[in-house]
Amino acid sequence: MDGETYSSYHPFVSHPVVTVILGTIFSCILLWFIRDGLRVEGIEQKHVFVTGCDTGFGNLLARQLDQRGFNVIASCLTDKGEQDLQAASSPKLKTVLLNVTDSQSIEKALQFVQTEVGDKGLWGLVNNAGRATPIGPTEWMEKEDFNKVLDVNLIGLIEITLRFLPLIKKARGRVVNVASVMGRLAFAGGGYCLSKWGVESFSDSLRRDMQYFGIKVSIIEPGFFKTGVTSLAVIEKDLQRLWDRLSPEVRDSYGVQYFDKYLKAQSLSMNTFCSSDISKVTNCMEHALIAKYPRTRYGAGWDAKFFWLPLSYVPSFIADFMLRALLPTPDASRQQINLAFNSTDNLNKIQVNPH
Ligand SMILES: NC(=O)c1ccc[n+]([C@@H]2O[C@H](COP(=O)([O-])OP(=O)(O)OC[C@H]3O[C@@H](n4cnc5c(N)ncnc54)[C@H](OP(=O)(O)O)[C@@H]3O)[C@@H](O)[C@H]2O)c1
Ligand SMILES: *[C@@H]1O[C@H](CO)[C@@H](O)[C@H](O)[C@H]1NC(C)=O
Ligand SMILES: *[C@@H]1O[C@H](CO)[C@@H](O)[C@H](O)[C@H]1NC(C)=O
Repeated sequence: MDGETYSSYHPFVSHPVVTVILGTIFSCILLWFIRDGLRVEGIEQKHVFVTGCDTGFGNLLARQLDQRGFNVIASCLTDKGEQDLQAASSPKLKTVLLNVTDSQSIEKALQFVQTEVGDKGLWGLVNNAGRATPIGPTEWMEKEDFNKVLDVNLIGLIEITLRFLPLIKKARGRVVNVASVMGRLAFAGGGYCLSKWGVESFSDSLRRDMQYFGIKVSIIEPGFFKTGVTSLAVIEKDLQRLWDRLSPEVRDSYGVQYFDKYLKAQSLSMNTFCSSDISKVTNCMEHALIAKYPRTRYGAGWDAKFFWLPLSYVPSFIADFMLRALLPTPDASRQQINLAFNSTDNLNKIQVNPH
């Protein structure tokens, strides 16, 4: 047949070197998938401790791991969070109160977990608790605003990890830290991006330092999801506080309409990017706990995989250009342009090079 004659002479398919290369690539991908699908055994004997389980990712993860058969110890910030979670899960799941910024509270939770796990140690620590506000233009922040977020998302996470490390070492267990795409690409002022960059680097150091003890460390990098931290009501209320306390001079440089335009642009972006399927994130966390070979980084959500994380690799001037398109321009920026055009030097230039 004509077709057969054609294909046997086809320059790409017939070449043995190409065949070997394609075969190798295909085998590697196949092996990676098989390796990624291997699971640990004895989940029913393993304990996992999760922080920030009142709502959002932590809440869903606690229930999901409970259903899987893990012994879950879920920590909540509030009594109500504890009660609601307990009502939604099996009696096997234990809850404990924990405020990650309070050393005494960490100590109490540690005692509770120690009693629960006994000699087996702790298989999994999931550092999930976090907050986003205050978040907004850097110039609107004061030092205290940075502290509020850094204390929870970074310093709290570090203190908990250090205190729980002996229990994890005993079980040759895992640490799963929740960072964010904003820990790879900084595009909002305030402590949030800083805290998540900190979580990334703390986790990298921890992984490299603890590998000798069989401890694995994974970083979760979610894109945008509808939860407490992305609640526009909370973010906007806090932004209003920042805007109201600006000096008239600073506020003028943005212009009277800036605040409203900012809120509009922000809600447009949030509504575009935020996914309500938060199981995409908890499935990554679960994989990090049950896979024989957990991944080092998990990008969770389409926006993370195909927009934010790729954007973090492009040259900064391209990222700057793209991100600039997402937010309004302060008035002062236009005034600068007018000033430049009104000066005689620039007028000369414009005449030399007319439109
Ligand atoms: N949603 C997203 O788009 C997104 C994207 C990337 C990363 N993340 C990260 O994912 C993690 C979970 O957030 P989420 O999206 O599930 O939002 P969430 O529903 O607000 O969950 C965060 C939880 O942490 C708790 N928390 C706050 N301060 C605490 C403290 N001092 N001590 C203990 N717990 C505290 C909160 O309690 P209260 O509700 O009582 O304040 C809340 O239950 C956070 O680290 C967040 O930064 C979220
Ligand atoms: C958490 O602890 C910090 C520091 O002790 C305290 O300022 C804050 O009010 C506590 N938060 C809650 C919700 O109890
Ligand atoms: C510059 O020129 C523009 C347009 O002619 C004018 O509106 C603006 O007030 C001028 N700015 C200054 C600082 O002179």
